[in-house]
Amino acid sequence: MKATKISDNIYWVGAIDWNLRSFHGYDTSNGSSYNAYLIIDEKITLIDNVKEGFKQELLERIASVVDPSKIDIIISNHGEPDHSGAINDITNVAKNATIYVSGAVGEKILKAYYGDTHDIKVVKTGDKLNTGKYNFTFLQTPFVHWPDNMVTYLEEEKILFSNDCFGQHYASSSRFDYNADPQIAIIEARKYYANIVLPYSKQALKACKLLEDLQIDIIAPSHGIIWKEYVKEIRAQYDEMANRVTREKAVIVYDTMYDSTRKIAYAIADAFDAKNIPYQIIDVNVTPFSDIITEIMDSKYLAIGSPTANNVMLPNIAGFLHYLKGLNPTGLKYIAFGSYGWSGQSIDMIKQSLDEMKYEPVLDPIKVLYVPSKEQILDITNSIIEKL
Ligand code: FEO
Repeated sequence: MKATKISDNIYWVGAIDWNLRSFHGYDTSNGSSYNAYLIIDEKITLIDNVKEGFKQELLERIASVVDPSKIDIIISNHGEPDHSGAINDITNVAKNATIYVSGAVGEKILKAYYGDTHDIKVVKTGDKLNTGKYNFTFLQTPFVHWPDNMVTYLEEEKILFSNDCFGQHYASSSRFDYNADPQIAIIEARKYYANIVLPYSKQALKACKLLEDLQIDIIAPSHGIIWKEYVKEIRAQYDEMANRVTREKAVIVYDTMYDSTRKIAYAIADAFDAKNIPYQIIDVNVTPFSDIITEIMDSKYLAIGSPTANNVMLPNIAGFLHYLKGLNPTGLKYIAFGSYGWSGQSIDMIKQSLDEMKYEPVLDPIKVLYVPSKEQILDITNSIIEKL
């Protein structure tokens, strides 16, 4: 396990998690990485570390450059255990290391997970650190992703160590965007934002503004590949996502029992088709929630449908609504729909959930008894066309 040189005196010493398939319920189909960076100067600095199961890999990579006991400074941009899980293993060997954390909350989180025995220095936005020839500036970016998140800027190299910000759950043998597949990296960065950062978009916007005037040649996040040739693109993507830019686009999510609710979903799609609005029809049993949310993030319209079974909606639609509520993409226009046999509560339950999220109904809920007739299918399509 060797370090990868990022530039003179700067090394990637993290770990690749090829097998990660779920991050707190977020479907991580491309795996991930826990990036840590070692900077060799008069004082030796480690930025972030790795999830606990990867600590041996981290220590081996550090040791390929320098004796880990020589580390003087650990910058902990974020205390979540995917970036701090090896902290006690490092301080066990680097006994005099000082850990830099973001604000009192950074100190609180680190102590909660790793005990009260470390030498901790609390920093805030604008604070600086000199390690010899290098100067670092700390910039707090709270809630991108936890309250303690910060980024660290290395002035001489114009490198932003951005932790979760600009990250992607993307395992690759390449460390830089130009050696990996940049399109996958951008897609995974958008998926990461949709499933991790989206509920904190106001704070993400503040972070974008905080970094706006910073000259950045390299963005070194703590997940995924390092941005070097696509810095401009990923910054533009973050500006767009944090500003919650939406498009004329619809996502139709449904579950079905005997095909009736699916037929309504397709009737709804015909309306968007007639208005030249791009749409996706998604069977909730087929596509992971995390991919559905990524599509919804920049959509203007959302249709959700379920038949009624046992007086409620089907469980995967209920689960999806729960996931949606947590990530809270704001400002959508919605259509609630479904079929039923005798009671039909599922459609009102979907409506209630979407009303609670302050979405605007396109029209009254669409309820069909048993099976939609050809006339009903046409009526559904036409009544939506009128409202779009
Ligand atoms: Fe990748 Fe919020 O930790």
